[in-house]
Amino acid sequence: MFVPLPTSDRLQFRLFQEADLPFLASMFADERVMQFFIGGTRDLVQTRRWLAKRQDQWNRFGRTLYALEKKEGGLVGYCGFIRWEIDGVAETEIAYGLAREAWGRGYAVEAAVACRDFAFARWTLARLIALIHPENTASSKVARRIGMVLDRRCRVKGVSVDLYAIDCAGRPEGGTE
Ligand SMILES: CC(C)(COP(=O)(O)OP(=O)(O)OC[C@H]1O[C@@H](n2cnc3c(N)ncnc32)[C@H](O)[C@@H]1OP(=O)(O)O)[C@@H](O)C(=O)NCCC(=O)NCCS
Repeated sequence: MFVPLPTSDRLQFRLFQEADLPFLASMFADERVMQFFIGGTRDLVQTRRWLAKRQDQWNRFGRTLYALEKKEGGLVGYCGFIRWEIDGVAETEIAYGLAREAWGRGYAVEAAVACRDFAFARWTLARLIALIHPENTASSKVARRIGMVLDRRCRVKGVSVDLYAIDCAGRPEGGTE
């Protein structure tokens, strides 16, 4: 069965599979990649659990975090959607993370733009959000580049994060700025 997923010029999205475990384990063991995540680096057991959760989210909601590959081949990380309830409101987050070798090439903005446009074209959403550690400058730059603005600081899972958002009505026309 054909399942539409976001696409972009250089990147393709697909569901994660068991064979991706070594890539993910290596990425999640990298302290710089995990610097701003609750709990820091993840071991193999935690990485398996993370992978299983992606499949579970897909089965239940038809949206999840996807494996992100270069079109010429080679995983670079993940990008996709996480559902939240924050302060009693249902929200959809665009989330992204790349292995360190893939940083600084515009992949995160490219992938996040693809997810933004995919979501607004297909789903009835008031807005999309990103939850970002206040010191995670690279991530907040990605959020701003896709048209998000800082909405407020809030607590999620007991941690203080910046909530960036882009309203469906206010999304940029066909661009990344
Ligand atoms: C955040 C992350 C996905 C950015 O990926 P990336 O592909 O390097 O980002 P891009 O190349 O698309 O760059 C986006 C912007 O961030 C800037 N940027 C990238 N890395 C940066 C850094 N370490 N410090 C400051 N700015 C940075 C780029 O210069 C660019 O800015 P510009 O719009 O002014 O040109 C990547 O750093 C990462 O995977 N970090 C670890 C996981 C993580 O923190 N995920 C987000 C959780 S909320």
